[in-house]
Amino acid sequence: MKTPAELLELFNTHLTNLPLDRKPEGLYTPVRYELSLGGKRIRPVLMLLAYQLYHDNVEAIMSTALGIEMYHNYTLLHDDVMDRADMRRGKPTVHKVWNDNTAILSGDAMLVLAYQLMSDVEQQQLPAVLQRFTETALEIGEGQQMDMEFEQRMDVTEQEYIEMIRLKTSVLLACALEIGAIRADAPESDRKALYDFGQYLGLAFQLQDDLLDVYGDPKTFGKQIGGDILCNKKTFMLINALAKADAAQRAELEHWLNTTDTQPQEKIKAVTEIYNTIGIRKLAEERINQYFDKALEQIEILGVDNDKKQSLYALAHSLMGRKS
Ligand code: IPE
Ligand code: IPE
Ligand code: MG
Ligand code: MG
Ligand code: MG
Repeated sequence: MKTPAELLELFNTHLTNLPLDRKPEGLYTPVRYELSLGGKRIRPVLMLLAYQLYHDNVEAIMSTALGIEMYHNYTLLHDDVMDRADMRRGKPTVHKVWNDNTAILSGDAMLVLAYQLMSDVEQQQLPAVLQRFTETALEIGEGQQMDMEFEQRMDVTEQEYIEMIRLKTSVLLACALEIGAIRADAPESDRKALYDFGQYLGLAFQLQDDLLDVYGDPKTFGKQIGGDILCNKKTFMLINALAKADAAQRAELEHWLNTTDTQPQEKIKAVTEIYNTIGIRKLAEERINQYFDKALEQIEILGVDNDKKQSLYALAHSLMGRKS
């Protein structure tokens, strides 16, 4: 059995060797650029870990692991256009290095490449793999649409936010794990437990992403700190700040949400100070821990030996301490 670090290294070797040499250059150079920026590769590693609960020959599903990471990176190209984000993985985003049209079309190419890689499975597994992948891809678009629509609304509830992040983020982690289990011909009950593990882990992961967007270390986070505040993203933090604010704090928050002619740093600083006063960080951390605990419960119910589960626990714990 390989450790998560060993799986990551093996996966990165395969990713580096992926031939992306079609023409025109202008379409594929941005694809290679995005993939070369690094990233945690948690989706393929989760998939390989799930498969490894049943079989050791992880190389057998490498195309599928490449497919899920290709798909994730496609979502990032388009997400950075939608979020007007200038930085990703510590480097300028594709639409900044090139332009929006390039991010759209190279992103589209990545989506198609992801399908090509995903389809490279044994005939009898193809329907189950494609069914889960296609359903997930639709759900992610739905979550991203909700995320954008929420920017314009002031009455987004915590429940709506959780459903939005379940769709835009959690289902891809869940899909990676379930497809790992499908490729391993795992029992149905384990497929479900792995899917649910991914969903809870994904909720904790996106809540943490939103937290790091405000409180992360700019040197390690790789994205602009305060990006969500500038876009008026209705995060768990903003929703709870609005709910818990007194009249004066609420008026101040609303002022910043309605202000367009301001220096970005001024708005980020002001909103962050309101979060600090209200104690939003602690609230978010508590919620992250709740979802994380629920995720761990799903590992417990898996029908495999305890020693096999240790790598999943290890990866989950390392994610919770992440700085990027
Ligand atoms: C970023 O995903 C998008 C979210 C769902 C928060 P990751 O945090 O996994 O990004 P990389 O791939 O490691 O850069
Ligand atoms: C990303 O959510 C979800 C998808 C890319 C589908 P975010 O917009 O929070 O991700 P980052 O922070 O840009 O990585
Ligand atoms: Mg974004
Ligand atoms: Mg986004
Ligand atoms: Mg984010």
